[in-house]
Amino acid sequence: MTRRTLRLDASADGLATAAQLLRDGGLVAFPTETVYGLGGDATNGRAVAGIYAAKGRPSFNPLISHVPDLAAARAFGAFDAVALRLAERFWPGPLTLVVPAVAGSGVSDLAVAGLPTIALRVPATSAARELLRQVGRPVTAPSANASGHVSPTTAAHVLADLDGRIDAVVDGGPTQVGVESTVVAVVDGVATLLRPGGVTRSTLEAVLGGKLVENADADPARPASPGMLASHYAPNAQVRLNVDEVRVGEALLTFGGARPPGSEHAVMTLDLSESGDLAEAAAGLFGALRRLDAAGVTAIATTPVPDRDLGEAINDRLRRAAAPK
Ligand code: TXA
Ligand code: MG
Repeated sequence: MTRRTLRLDASADGLATAAQLLRDGGLVAFPTETVYGLGGDATNGRAVAGIYAAKGRPSFNPLISHVPDLAAARAFGAFDAVALRLAERFWPGPLTLVVPAVAGSGVSDLAVAGLPTIALRVPATSAARELLRQVGRPVTAPSANASGHVSPTTAAHVLADLDGRIDAVVDGGPTQVGVESTVVAVVDGVATLLRPGGVTRSTLEAVLGGKLVENADADPARPASPGMLASHYAPNAQVRLNVDEVRVGEALLTFGGARPPGSEHAVMTLDLSESGDLAEAAAGLFGALRRLDAAGVTAIATTPVPDRDLGEAINDRLRRAAAPK
């Protein structure tokens, strides 16, 4: 279905219009500190189904329900002492907690894909929190991109994928973190890392006072976090990881000033952070993949990114960008 997509700003008027659209069952993309989300009323099954349709998502994966604060989250999920400690320390912020769902809370089965658990998140941007306060219901929101494509970090990225397929986008400028939230399941006091993201493993483990459990389900075809399919965040170009030489016809996506042999022939070179700053690299990662696609690049060579702190999420996204489609 084609519709006119309103461009809204993050002013009081813009957010009031966005909130009304969401309350009426509309689809509105909005900025969080990680990436732009495509929001719909989590209690409205038709709105949630519309999100899958707009993204062209082939199957129903469980989605994250966004709420303005921990008090609101507790109406929808059961927080044990471990979950509470994480929520109190990291919310608002780039952490999603998967906890047992509260029965009869009104969240549509489609939003949780029929699972007995629910993913909850309190985003940190003032635009998102004000919007969520005004909607007064949980807002389910995957990243606001076409299914399988690179997540959007600007309103222009959202429109490039979804113009004419959603009701509105709230433009709050580029996102700060640039990779999605870290997803941690907390069930029976055990915290399991389902997706690396904006909150680093080391900060989480410092607060937990121990190690995160690794996602036990190693079969990539049946991940315990069902949205974590191997190919995702994918540019059109073929991606070759951790190269030690750049081949003819490749673009170079590099980090920390690295220029492997053959770099001088690269069809295009983007350095995620000349100074080797992982936060800068994360913030620019998806935009860089989109720029390479826009330039018509067909093959991308990447140099290694340290696998610590935000590097873990960057490497996770790069592996998925490189996976066979
Ligand atoms: O930063 C983010 O998290 C962004 C912004 C918009 O908030 N949202 C986002 O949503 O990345 P999405 O739908 O792309 O990713 C949701 C992730 C998926 O990996 C999904 O499998 C997992 O959360 N998830 C959701 N509910 C779950 C559940 N009940 N059990 C296990 N994993 C779940
Ligand atoms: Mg996504």
